[in-house]
Formats: sequence, C-alpha cells, structure tokens
Amino acid sequence: MAPKTSPEIGGMGHSVKRKEDPRFLRGQGNYVDDVVLPGMLYLDIVRSPYAHATIKSIDTSKALAIPGVLAVITGKDLEKYNLHWMPTLMSDTQMVLPVEKVMYQAQEVAAVLATDRYIAADGVEAVEVDYDPLPVVVDPKKALLPDAPVLRTDKKDKKDNHIWHWEWGNREATDQLFRDAEVTVKQDIYIPRIHVSSIETCGCVAHFDKVTGKLKVWMTTQAPHAIRTVFALVAGHVGLSEEKIQIISPDIGGGFGGKVPVYPGYVIAVAASVLTGKPVKWIEDRMENLQADSFARDYHITAELAGNKDGKLTALRIKTIADHGYTDAAANPSKFPAGLFHVCTGSYDLKAAHVEVDGVYTNKPPGGIAYRCSFRVTEAVHTIERMADLMAHELNMDAAELRMKNFIKPEQFPYKSALDWEYDSGNYGAALQLAMDKVGYAELRKEQAEKRARGELMGIGISSFTEIVGAGPSKHFDILGLKMFDSAEIRVHPTGKVIARFGTKSQGQGHETTYAQIIAEELGFPVANILVEEGDTDTAPYGLGTYASRSTPVAGAACAIACRKIKDKARKIAAYLLEAHEEDLEWEPGKFFVKGSPDRAKTIQEISLAAYTNHPPGTEAGLEAVNYYDPPNLTYPFGSYICVVDIDKGTGEVKVRRFVAIDDCGNIINPMIVEGQIHGGLTMGLGPALYEEIQYDESGNCLQGSFMNYLVPTAVETPNWETGNTVTPSPHHPLGAKGVGESATVGAPAAIVNAVVDALWHLGVRHIDIPITSAKVWKLLREAGVRG
Ligand code: CDP
Repeated sequence: MAPKTSPEIGGMGHSVKRKEDPRFLRGQGNYVDDVVLPGMLYLDIVRSPYAHATIKSIDTSKALAIPGVLAVITGKDLEKYNLHWMPTLMSDTQMVLPVEKVMYQAQEVAAVLATDRYIAADGVEAVEVDYDPLPVVVDPKKALLPDAPVLRTDKKDKKDNHIWHWEWGNREATDQLFRDAEVTVKQDIYIPRIHVSSIETCGCVAHFDKVTGKLKVWMTTQAPHAIRTVFALVAGHVGLSEEKIQIISPDIGGGFGGKVPVYPGYVIAVAASVLTGKPVKWIEDRMENLQADSFARDYHITAELAGNKDGKLTALRIKTIADHGYTDAAANPSKFPAGLFHVCTGSYDLKAAHVEVDGVYTNKPPGGIAYRCSFRVTEAVHTIERMADLMAHELNMDAAELRMKNFIKPEQFPYKSALDWEYDSGNYGAALQLAMDKVGYAELRKEQAEKRARGELMGIGISSFTEIVGAGPSKHFDILGLKMFDSAEIRVHPTGKVIARFGTKSQGQGHETTYAQIIAEELGFPVANILVEEGDTDTAPYGLGTYASRSTPVAGAACAIACRKIKDKARKIAAYLLEAHEEDLEWEPGKFFVKGSPDRAKTIQEISLAAYTNHPPGTEAGLEAVNYYDPPNLTYPFGSYICVVDIDKGTGEVKVRRFVAIDDCGNIINPMIVEGQIHGGLTMGLGPALYEEIQYDESGNCLQGSFMNYLVPTAVETPNWETGNTVTPSPHHPLGAKGVGESATVGAPAAIVNAVVDALWHLGVRHIDIPITSAKVWKLLREAGVRG
C-alpha cells in the first residue's frame, strides 16, 4: 500500500528511521542502572542453594560486621509489616522473603543493604543460613501422585499440589468426532522451560522521600501503571498511597514478558528505602536472572487430531499439565488461567475441539510468563502445527496440501472458532502460497526425493500460524481486576509541535517512532515534530502496558482515536478561520481546504496557533485529546513459514539452509520496524527450537544457570531470514493494523521441528521435543542404524 503522506510527514507505510536510535547508538540510553542518586545504597540478595528446605536460622552477625554493610533484611523483618508475602498476578501468593521455608533453588532468603554494590555482595557471602532440606518435587506428573509431598504448606487446607483445572470447548461433540474419524493421530509434546534472557536483567532504584512521603521507583517494568496500583494495594497499610507513588520505566533493554511480574527484589528495595529514607538500588546479575525469574512454557501436552482419509480435519483434543513452579505467578488475564492456549485450533476450520489444562506446583521458580507471546499462544501454535504435520505424514499427503485443504477460507471471516474466538480477518492460503513460491517449494520437494535416494537427510517444514493479540476487550480481559484497555494523550503546542503520552512502554520496539507515525498519518504533523513519551506514571495516562503484542492493537488505536478528536476540533477552527462551513472543508495530510478551492486552506500548524491565539468564540482554547481504547475484539495476525534443513548424519547437527517467513499484520505502520521485529522474533524462535532449555536435576538444581550452558543464538547460529508479507487489514482496528511483535517467535519453532521430523520420518521418527539438539538427533540416527 503506497503511503498517503509525504516522506517529510512520514505517516504510515514509511520506513522512518527510529527516533530513539541516536541515543542508543551513542551509548546515551538511560537504563535503570544508569540512575545514580546522592546517598544511594545498594541491595544484594542471599539466595537458597536448596530447592526445598526449612530455614532453621539466619545468622547475620558476620555480614553486619563488614564495614559498609548497614543492614540485613530477613523475612521476619518484613513479617512485622505484613510484607513477607505478596499477591501474584494470578491471585496466588508469593514470598517476598521466606519466614519458614524456601521453595526453589535461588529463591531470595535475605537482603543485604550496603554503601557499595561490592560490599553488598561481600555481605551476601557472610550471611549464614542453616537449612534443613525437605523432599524435592521437580516433575509435575510426580507432583500429582497421591504420595507426593504437599509443597504449599502455607495454605492451610491444601492437601495436594494441584493448582487448578481449566477446560474449554465441547467435550461431547469432540469425542463423537473422534469416534467417527477415519484417521486420528496422537502425540505427547513437551514444551520446556525457557528463559527470556533479555540483554538487561531486572532491577530498580527505589527512593522514598521521608519529608514528602513520595515514593519514586525507577524500574524495569513493562506495565508501570499496574505496578503502581499493585504497590498501593499491597503497601497501603504502611502508608504508601497511590498519588504518592511514581513508577518510572526508563529505557528497557528487552522485556519479552519477563518484566511484567513483580519480583521480590523490587519489593525489598522499596521496603529498604521506606525504612531508611535513602535511595536503594537493586540490579540482578545474569545468573540470578537466569535462575530465579522470567520463566516461560513448561507445558506437558498430549494432543490428538481427528480427520478423514481425504485429509479433512475434524476435531482436536488436548490435555495439558502446566508446571507453574511453587506459585502461580503467570501473567495471564484473570479469566484464563491457561492464557489464550485455546487458540490452539490455529488456522484450521475444525468442527469441534476440547482443551483441558491442569496447573501444578513444583519446587521451581514461578513460571508462566508470556515470553514474546500472547499468553500461551506459542504453546498452542506449536501443538497444532506439529499435529497438522503428523496428520499429513500419516496420510502420506503433502503438508502444504493438507493445510490448504483445511484453512479457514477468506470468505468465512469473521470466523467463530471451535473454541469460541472470533477471528477478525485472514487469508491463510495466500500467505502459504506466497511462502511456497518464494522458497521454490515444488523444486525443493524434488531435491529432497533425490537426496533421500542418495541417503542424504533434508527436510522441509511448514508452520501456518494464527496469533491472537491485542488484549483486550475489557469484557473478557483483566489482570487483578484491572481492565485491559489502553490509552493515548496528545497535546498540540501553539507552534504546531506535539507531545504524546501513552499507557504502554516500549522495550525496544520503537514506539517513539511508530506512535509518532500514527499521529503524522492522522494529523499531518511531521514525525520530526512529535515527541512520544511513555513509562512515567506521573505524566502518562493510565494503561496496562506493553506485552502480548498489544501496543499497536490497543494503544495504537487509542492514538488514532485521540487524533481524530483533535482533527474534529481542528476542522472547527479551520472553518472559523476560512469563514466556511465545516462540511465544506476537505482534508489532505497537513491541511484543510475549501472544497473546489484548494488555495483557501489552513495548515495544521496555522490551526494549532489559532487554537491558542484566535480560537472560535464559544469554544475552548487549546488542541488536545485523550482516549482510553477498549477494543471490540482482538486482532489475529498470521503467517506462513517454510524452513529447509539439512542434517549431518555424522554429528546430528541441524543446519537451517533456508527460512522463508511471510507475515500478515494488517496495515503496517513502519515496514522497517516490522521487518526488524520479525528478524528478532525469528531468532528468538530458533533458540528454543534448537538450543534453549532450562532443566532441573532431581534435587531441584538449575542446570542452565549461566550463559556457559544456556545457548542463546547469536549471529553465528542465526541463518539468513527471508521475509515477506501479505496485507489483510483488521476490520475493527481504526488503522486496520494488527500486532506483530511476537508472531515470529510464536511461528518459527514449529516450522523448524516439522522440517527436522520431515527429514527423519522415513527412519521412523515421528516427533522430537524441542530443543532439537545435535545429541538428540545423533541418538535417533544411531537407533535407526544410520552412520555418518
Ligand atoms: O506491544 P508491542 O509493541 O510489543 O508489539 P506490536 O504492537 O506488535 O508492535 C511492535 C512494533 O511494530 C511497534 O513499534 C509497532 O508500532 C510496529 N508495528 C507496525 O509498524 N505495524 C503493525 N501493523 C504492527 C506493529
């Protein structure tokens, strides 16, 4: 679609260079750890070596004897203020610091407050904790056995480790379709724990001013307003009142869902600042970050797909055990304990489906964050895309053909899925066809057959995913009761320059540029003259924050609507200035003119000045607007990815030779930024597909607690991504846009796994759980009698 505005204005469709990049490229970003305040103290945390143990005693004397160590805070200290436990985002409870026992390795046990970061670390080494180890449960299936030790002994009536059971869909209809099916496939799929591993770890600087009673917290959070409200609710009884809490999210070095939860470190730092009246800084190190927070996935899935011999799919049935660690701290909308997992019917027109999920406690850190994914959509997409491939292979049908046969057709939109979602728009066949053309699908299949005849291992994998982003319509979506709308506040200055503030918070997505482009599109101000601010609760309008690719679908829409309010007023001012009727005016980007007399025009800059110097009698001065946008529906971006792999028979190494990604996020605001989102997302899909997994041994020791053994792909591992797109606008979004930030991370892993299984199917391989390490493939090859 050709842009409607000139490059100077830079509205939608222009690849405007990111306004935020000059400060990042020059090392002038302002991250939490850059905040330095006079008299600031430093906090470091004593962590448990045990995954489950009673705390018999904590001896702080040696630590307190270190010059510069000012205090050691324990759970008992916080208990005095009833701050030793806090609520989680799923209305469970979580320890800030333990009083009786620890529940996972690396759990916070005590905090040392010192005049220097390194002295605080020395203090941590000197704290002596006497533990009495308890039996450990790391396997959620074992946690459900009748003789498993009950972990949450703090919950008086709890007699097992089961958190909740949740199900959705039509069980009877699904079972009947399975009974009637000509063919069914069934597969256990484990989607392991992984970590977001953003460049910046978590941390905060808390500053409580004893004179004014104001608490200011610079914090690595993706949702500053919600955090402010949670702080006010949790600590209201110790005098923290919401108007006196200011949360500032400065530049953030990657969030990906991991900076949504409230980690104990934040709360301890705030408590320490309130107690001392001094600013307190807490910054996690990399190993703390990898061992104690931001865990995603950990779903043990059993999926079944039913269909007919001609390849027509009919029903899907899924049972899942969700390992949430020791508390349910998942960042899901309240109504959906398994997130949006029930979008698992994907891009296919099924008659019925039924999904069951059981949440389980284990001795692991809390999991369930929406890692670059709209609340469990990655798990859903992985499952359906694996199952579709299994069915195709089972029927000896081409994987693309099976998909084409079962896609929801363009004319079926808006489409009500078997699990009750109303998909807004889509054209799945077009995206897959484009991907097939771009990759040269037919030739690749020929090449594969030839190679197979020669004993070489080559595979082609497809993933035709549908996402669900833009939480959300407030009738269905809230977190802790806070409805999931979002907001924009736009003010035009007299000289025609703009400041705009939002309830979201960019963590690298480029909002300073793309929101400015929406304003440029709607009002014709050049992007260069628009300042976008987010993340300061004292100035930004209330919003639920940035995660689950919701910024464009929700705050982007709020931005467009606020602009339209401003444009309505600008029209009135223009009519007054031009002595014309409003209805006789026409708009072209940047000016109103009288129909048929293009010379009788007023630019948006002239109108802005008049709003303050010569506004129409009887109207208010000024030119500004606010909008709180409650979307009527979610948006459903989609895509088709095709991956080509070659497998080394000697080492089992999987080499991604080609990867074609066709995405559709509706109308695009900034094509360059969208491409960047896709590239990053694809690499973050490659990681879990081939390398990343956080494992625990029987004693609950975390086996991937550093980057020495947790491989995040770098440029060396990353193949050349070949991207492209189709455009299917969202019919209900004011700009026709859908979210895109997470599509590639969601869609990529299944394409890679499908390619690897496709390469090995003739050897009897039906499924491989991610990550597909060389060792796993090597073992399968040896079992099949293949030698290098
Ligand atoms: O919520 P988050 O910013 O992570 O995700 P998003 O709404 O999908 O947006 C990611 C980035 O891509 C933002 O800078 C958006 O403005 C941009 N984008 C775009 O230019 N066009 C779209 N249709 C969707 C997103």
